[in-house]
Amino acid sequence: MKYRTLGKTNLKVAEVGMGTWQLAGKPWGWDAPNEAESLKSLYRYVELGGNFIDTAYVYGRADKPGEESGSHTSEELIGQFLKESGYVGKIIIASKIPPKNRFWPAHFGISISEVFPSDYIETMVDASLKALNINTIDLMQFHVWQDDFVKDDGWKNTIQKITKKGKVKHWGISINDYQPGNCLKTLDTGLISTVQFIFNIFHQKPTEKLLPYAQKHNIGLIARVPLDEGGLTGRLTLDSKFTDDMRSVYFSPDRLKELVPRIQALEKLLGNEAKTLPEIALRYLLSWNALSTVIPGTRKVKYVNVNTSISDGRKLSEKLMTELKNHAWERNFYVDLDPALKTQGYVEV
Ligand SMILES: NC(=O)c1ccc[n+]([C@@H]2O[C@H](COP(=O)([O-])OP(=O)(O)OC[C@H]3O[C@@H](n4cnc5c(N)ncnc54)[C@H](OP(=O)(O)O)[C@@H]3O)[C@@H](O)[C@H]2O)c1
Repeated sequence: MKYRTLGKTNLKVAEVGMGTWQLAGKPWGWDAPNEAESLKSLYRYVELGGNFIDTAYVYGRADKPGEESGSHTSEELIGQFLKESGYVGKIIIASKIPPKNRFWPAHFGISISEVFPSDYIETMVDASLKALNINTIDLMQFHVWQDDFVKDDGWKNTIQKITKKGKVKHWGISINDYQPGNCLKTLDTGLISTVQFIFNIFHQKPTEKLLPYAQKHNIGLIARVPLDEGGLTGRLTLDSKFTDDMRSVYFSPDRLKELVPRIQALEKLLGNEAKTLPEIALRYLLSWNALSTVIPGTRKVKYVNVNTSISDGRKLSEKLMTELKNHAWERNFYVDLDPALKTQGYVEV
């Protein structure tokens, strides 16, 4: 495993991190018994040199139909793993505070007092510390963001107060899907050390402004959804169906019809530089020096083996990187899902 510096946090993070949205079940349609495999995946990840785990309050199963997903179940499983393994303090843990109003993504024009009021920030930090069973969180991220929040001083004072208490070491923002520029004014405050953002072969827009900005200002960059929620793994077909699962919306039949030919086109590029789709997808990202870490989400040991093996320092050739530009496929999942969002001020930036 190769390591990179996570911006100004100076933490040395594994360049292949571990995403855990699906670790504890819903909304990735899965039931409790597989937690044993999830736990094994965490062990395997660390055994292979991994040291960066990304989680969030909302990752995990709902206990009853209709209940909000999450309630710390992914955090709790990670907490159990840390305790059992004795890795507390040795593994870098990143978690997230959900928006209080539960609007995903953050809507433009809604005050931060509805999204991240000061007392709520500290309450959620305490809750995550409890679920993770640790005394300090290495990186706490705001799960949604609008650059407009920069005008408010409440969150700025609050995060500094929480850091002084030793509950959180560093702060990050997880920015809205497909809005890689919607954070730059906030980064100018110097209070935010990392940005988590969608970045993959289909969504290459972050290379335009965010990557150069981050490199210049020493911001840690965490690439989420590197495999397009599974779209870039080659495992999906026109017949793929997900029941009671967030992917049933993301991979609607219409979306699959667009996806499959794009995957077939990408398969033609496989060869010596990358033999499989997950490999080309992850190597594409790791070929960018500005990136600190990529966090493929998985709950399976076999995928942990594959994903960590990509970290061998080998970058894709300039020729292949140039060719991959032709495979960008800019979409906006939220606007596709709810066109009303456009009129509510959800703009691509
Ligand atoms: N901040 C945010 O708003 C936000 C949003 C989304 C995600 N995230 C974070 O980013 C992480 C990554 O995103 P994601 O998990 O949504 O999507 P992703 O990493 O693009 O794709 C995950 C899917 O790929 C599969 N997979 C992983 N490695 C594979 C391999 N080597 N071969 C074949 N299939 C493989 C997983 O399968 P299995 O499930 O079967 O293991 C899962 O179905 C999340 O886990 C989470 O930590 C953050």
